Amino acid sequence: MSSNPSSNPLANKAQAWSALFSEPMSELVQRYTASVGFDQRLWRADIEGSLAHAEMLAAQAIIGAADLEAIRRGMAQISEEIESGRFEWKLELEDVHLNIEARLTQLVGDAGKRLHTGRSRNDQVATDVRLWLRAEVDAIAALLVGMQRALVELAAGHTETVMPGYTHMQVAQPVSFAHHLLAYVEMFARDAERLADLRRRLNRMPLGAAALAGTSYPLDRERVARTLGFDGVCQNSLDAVSDRDFALEFAAFASIAMIHVSRLAEEIVLWMSQNFGFIDLADRYCTGSSIMPQKRNPDVAELARGKTGRVVGHLMGLLTLMKGQPLTYNKDNQEDKEPLFDAVDTLRDTLRIMAEMAGGIVVKPEAMERAALKGYATATDLADYLVKKGLPFRDAHETVAHAVKLAIREGRDLAELPLATLQGFNPAIGEDVFAALTLRGSMAARKVVGGTAPEQVRAQIEHHRQRLAPA
Ligand code: ARG
Repeated sequence: MSSNPSSNPLANKAQAWSALFSEPMSELVQRYTASVGFDQRLWRADIEGSLAHAEMLAAQAIIGAADLEAIRRGMAQISEEIESGRFEWKLELEDVHLNIEARLTQLVGDAGKRLHTGRSRNDQVATDVRLWLRAEVDAIAALLVGMQRALVELAAGHTETVMPGYTHMQVAQPVSFAHHLLAYVEMFARDAERLADLRRRLNRMPLGAAALAGTSYPLDRERVARTLGFDGVCQNSLDAVSDRDFALEFAAFASIAMIHVSRLAEEIVLWMSQNFGFIDLADRYCTGSSIMPQKRNPDVAELARGKTGRVVGHLMGLLTLMKGQPLTYNKDNQEDKEPLFDAVDTLRDTLRIMAEMAGGIVVKPEAMERAALKGYATATDLADYLVKKGLPFRDAHETVAHAVKLAIREGRDLAELPLATLQGFNPAIGEDVFAALTLRGSMAARKVVGGTAPEQVRAQIEHHRQRLAPA
């Protein structure tokens, strides 16, 4: 143990904490406990946080102006070293925080050792992750807008394109392809709301909680929070260092968003199959088979569907990580990073590629329409027609069931039954019934707000375009 006060206590791991330790860590323990392999991606946030902390320490006369200058100079060089790939990350220095602090002290001496005054890695790491995640949240918010825009623009060309709407995967009623796509726009819009909501709670600053109890130095936490763009400071130091709700909330948000993506992906896979043939995908989003020369597979959509599993898994992992942890910081918390990082990466890539792929969807309106003509999609319209002629809905429903039964027996669509046959079911039926029984007549009739009538869907497209327009 060195007694030289300007030696670097972080220079080797045996001395990383204090003279209390009399033997070095075993190599296995070092490897097991280190996080630098994955938390180095927090480096920008770590330096930003340290600079804001140092600037406040100087303003409060806790460190000198010369110290602050030295810290700034050192951090500038470290940033440069990391950016250019020259920074030497050391496993024995455990994590991103100790690596950067050790290098700082190597570069600027005692000023580097003063940086950690009134701070602990516990409030430091919680601050770093929040800063890092905030930037990712903003990037993802933009990607969600991109995803919605791609779907809205695809929809804009298909307000009159009829497809079968399904319940129970059985043909139910005709809807427009645009209307179907806008259902996903609603989902991604809710995701965007959830993200904005969690950002408010994410954007509070733990720094100043120190190890757990706060600190005796006269810190100005509000000042640091302002510098770092936080909306406020965490109000309980114990909670500040132990809380990982922001990770749970993000993983929950990401899981729901991925589930939306996976539902769309599943439909794309179905629609592209020969049995549906509703769409084709541009070649650049497909892959071939090594054995079947005829194959073009929608791998991107399948992978997006599949990757949903890992994000949902990260949510489960994080929930389980936090369950039963006593206050305050426990080393368990180091395990928050990999699932969080992977959830962010997976969601970002997936949103980007799915939005891009939406532009590569080739719609086949005739195939959609042919499918809508199977399955008596306008049976409800016949019932509604009878209701308009004065029948109670339940009676109309029963009458139409008989008509459909006959049509199935004859292998014909309802609209193909002669008027006289239809009148056999109810004499109130007139020539005007055929307009009601067409796919387009059925769609046009659903003018209720949120319905599939082209005029309603066009209004929705306009609404979304305005909502999503660049500010
Ligand atoms: N690498 C640690 C983490 O990610 C930093 C905090 C360490 N704090 C401690 N008391 N060991 O959680």
